[in-house]
Amino acid sequence: MSKGTPTLVAQDVVKKYVQGDADVPVLLGVDLKIEPGERVAIVGRSGSGKSCLLHILAGLESLDTGMVTVHGHDMVNADSDQRARLRRQYLGFVYQQHHLLPEFSALENVAIPQRLNGDGAEDAETNSRQLLERVELSHRLDHLPQAMSGGERQRVAVARALAHRPRLVLADEPTGNLDEMSSHHLMRMLVDLSEEQGTGFLIVTHDLALLSYFDRVLTLQNGRLSSDS
Ligand SMILES: Nc1ncnc2c1ncn2[C@@H]1O[C@H](COP(=O)(O)OP(=O)(O)O)[C@@H](O)[C@H]1O
Ligand SMILES: [Mg+2]
Repeated sequence: MSKGTPTLVAQDVVKKYVQGDADVPVLLGVDLKIEPGERVAIVGRSGSGKSCLLHILAGLESLDTGMVTVHGHDMVNADSDQRARLRRQYLGFVYQQHHLLPEFSALENVAIPQRLNGDGAEDAETNSRQLLERVELSHRLDHLPQAMSGGERQRVAVARALAHRPRLVLADEPTGNLDEMSSHHLMRMLVDLSEEQGTGFLIVTHDLALLSYFDRVLTLQNGRLSSDS
């Protein structure tokens, strides 16, 4: 079955950090291809390079050698403006800490990035309301982040990540601070929304109880990704 342009391709990505006069090799040749709408988990022990890999895929960190394309566009040789544009157009992000703006309501937190992307105020608000409804937060639109539970805040973060209809959401341990019930709730919302919008996601997680939400589980080990079977 032909699925069109892959959402994300990484080929032979190599990355080391320089620490004093020693090299710290982290990624030794990572290959990854994500098809539209695919839901992929990355697991691996602490320090294996998961965050580093996500940052490279998002164009937020440089690589030594290798290739990354997002929806067919070269992320590596793009200049920083082009990279920012590719990120805005195709990618969404959810962090372990929600990173919501503390002085703004849930609704504003979802709407503001859309406004910065050039959407009109009314469209941004309508879209934000709909998304917050989808993540079961209609009753929290006017709440500030500090007045919401951890699970609620992360669901706002998910609504925000999906507001511009990205092709792929990248998330680094998004359930890391949540209890079991909130974690499952968040993953269910992500799966539902990804099915509705055709959005893929690539999520780093430590939580083996969540792996059934994914189409594929990859392990980052010794600088390479391998698929679990
Ligand atoms: N800026 C840096 N300088 C030197 N080493 C780094 C830097 N950032 C990360 N590392 C090292 O790279 C490795 C991978 O880090 P990271 O991607 O954060 O791992 P993970 O997210 O899997 O826990 C670790 O050994 C870490 O110490
Ligand atoms: Mg990490």
